[in-house]
Amino acid sequence: MKNVQNYIAENKERFLEELLELLRIPSVSADSAYRNDVRKTAEYVALKLKKAGAENVEVVPTKGHPIVYADKIINPDLPTVLVYGHYDVQPPDPIDLWDSPPFEPVIKETPLHPGGAIFARGACDDKGQMYMHVKAFEAMLAANELPCNVKFMIEGEEEVGSDNLGDFCESNKERLAADVVLISDTSIIANDVPSITTGLRGLSYLEVEVVGPNKDLHSGVYGGAVGNPINILCEMIASLKDENNHITIPGFYDKVAVVDASERKQMNAAPFSEEAYKNALEIADVHGETGYTTIERASIRPTLDVNGMWGGYIGEGAKTVLPSKAFAKISMRLVPNQSSDEITELFTKHFESIAPDSVKVKVKPHHGGEAAVTPTNTPEYMAAYKAMEQTFGKAPIPERGGGSIPIVALFEKVLGVKTVLMGFGLNSDDIHSPNEHYGLFNYYKGIETIPYFYKHYAELKQ
Ligand code: BES
Ligand code: MN
Ligand code: MN
Repeated sequence: MKNVQNYIAENKERFLEELLELLRIPSVSADSAYRNDVRKTAEYVALKLKKAGAENVEVVPTKGHPIVYADKIINPDLPTVLVYGHYDVQPPDPIDLWDSPPFEPVIKETPLHPGGAIFARGACDDKGQMYMHVKAFEAMLAANELPCNVKFMIEGEEEVGSDNLGDFCESNKERLAADVVLISDTSIIANDVPSITTGLRGLSYLEVEVVGPNKDLHSGVYGGAVGNPINILCEMIASLKDENNHITIPGFYDKVAVVDASERKQMNAAPFSEEAYKNALEIADVHGETGYTTIERASIRPTLDVNGMWGGYIGEGAKTVLPSKAFAKISMRLVPNQSSDEITELFTKHFESIAPDSVKVKVKPHHGGEAAVTPTNTPEYMAAYKAMEQTFGKAPIPERGGGSIPIVALFEKVLGVKTVLMGFGLNSDDIHSPNEHYGLFNYYKGIETIPYFYKHYAELKQ
């Protein structure tokens, strides 16, 4: 292991330069204008895997963006680790809120990253975290200390719902066969409070359209007598939660997995300052479901949020208009045992039923995915635990995450393989937001920790 860590130390600068180069390619999967850049990013990742010593490197085309596959099978009798990550990124908008251009990475210090952080779209989610695995793999091979077989599957459609990954897994079961999936695409509590993510929320995402009169009308001539679809949409959305911020859709909570008192106690014992949380977001108070703490609201409880809403006149000045249509994008974060399809159906039925006769509503489902929980009594969890304990000098805490990585449930269903979520980002790293960043400490800590994971995993699997 000394050789691996020496190799990492000696190549630190280059490891950073390569990540910066990767961050300069704008791989925005949601926007077809970036299609070529997305492909170039896949090719860059494939090239670096090849240079690191991977075999069977392939940029596999799909109906959407390509999947990068590579492997290194050193001995079929050894355990196999399947590394999953994504090279696509969220759109950088709103661009004017960035302090530096999103695809021109710069390194700056922040209060939480006194050692410097890389500012760029994808720095933390997930190029920086995914690339740690490529570099750790390079180091283990260079030092001749790779203790497991490795397979890489790096996709380019995670941020748009991984539409083609399910098919790829179905038709490549043999090629993807592994003992464990290893993912770095989540966070730790703080740089001095390591944690391992033991759960992710599911998702149901949809769009609604409320249609009133057949054209925009004069709001004086018709106002007061014709249903205004924006007013009505607001009322409908407001009615989806009661005074306790409980979601009112009938059946919504029926299958929610109840977390027992001892686990709730444990998760609330994790270091967390609500004051610091509020200060960082410049909010006077938190807001959520009665009876649950902030930690619980953001991890083990389901949610309903409007992500965007539009309609009517939003140009300069005032236009007196009673709009014909109103729209909203709505997401529901789900918890174990809730089914994304079922919740989408419950929402649709309910939303249609609460619409007054003065409007018509249409509900269009987007992507979705199931929640996941990862057990803590497995060799892979123990391997991640020991690895982090070694490199952080502190035992990591299990933590349920609030975000979604729908393919985790899919890996278990299609490939029958469990996942370990060993992420290194911070929740404050502004993923999906302007000024996304990733600490240099976190990047290097990840590269340093991953080889220990392999070492402990190989030992524990014997
Ligand atoms: N890496 C995130 C998910 C995440 C972030 C999990 C932080 C836990 C902590 C991932 O790239 C992501 O953004 N997922 C999407 C879901 C997808 C279907 C678009 C999400 O959570 O909104
Ligand atoms: Mn991600
Ligand atoms: Mn993301």
